[in-house]
Amino acid sequence: MNLSPRLKKIVDFVPNNSIVADIGTDHGYVPKHLVDEGISKRVIATDISKGSLQKTIDYIREENLEEDIQARLGDGLEPIKPFEVDTAIVAGMGGILITEILTRSMATAKSVNTLILQPMVGSVELRRFLHESGFMIVDEDLVREGDKYYEIIVAKCGLQKFASDFDYEISPVLMKKKNPLTRELIENRLRINENIIDNLRDNPGEKSRDRLLELEKIGRDYREVLGR
Ligand SMILES: C[S@@+](CC[C@H](N)C(=O)[O-])C[C@H]1O[C@@H](n2cnc3c(N)ncnc32)[C@H](O)[C@@H]1O
Repeated sequence: MNLSPRLKKIVDFVPNNSIVADIGTDHGYVPKHLVDEGISKRVIATDISKGSLQKTIDYIREENLEEDIQARLGDGLEPIKPFEVDTAIVAGMGGILITEILTRSMATAKSVNTLILQPMVGSVELRRFLHESGFMIVDEDLVREGDKYYEIIVAKCGLQKFASDFDYEISPVLMKKKNPLTRELIENRLRINENIIDNLRDNPGEKSRDRLLELEKIGRDYREVLGR
């Protein structure tokens, strides 16, 4: 089966011969691809939802992959013991939920060599959390499906800080990649930022003042990166 561009980009970050946990696997497409392509020797597919995990169990059975893919029910990394896998994927969830999953199982998260994280929203908060919690961002990339942009963040245990607040919005790791989609993402974020600013200006209030100043600063930073 052909993976979507988002899932393809995620599996591209999985090191060869790795033992992988796919957290919140849902359909089980990622575990199947990793095993079929010989990228992973063994995959543990987990999900918090019985219904979602059942989809994976049925799929694994249909494809005769029961020896290579094990399905486990549970919250986040809780079904995984420290050092049981070398790579963990947490994809298709909100950035804040990903921070909660890592926080609840810090020993396991830190024992993993490659954490592949794909937040649907909240990438800024996720990057900040990683640096505050003793993780380094070692790689990043960006993929577009239709009009949606997906950021993929690869992290591992280690100390790192970015130089400025803006680096958590659009990270220097992503900028270095020179992916042409990065410019599109910034233009898209700038448009959204300007819409929110217009709304706040139309509805002024004590609370919205600080937020307005913050968004205006981010807008200036976006424009500077775009050379405008
Ligand atoms: C939108 S799907 C993403 C599926 C797949 N990872 C992907 O990227 O296409 C989100 C999945 O995460 C699962 N999920 C949500 N919270 C979870 C948690 N705390 N622990 C494990 N799985 C969770 C949901 O049940 C659902 O199957």
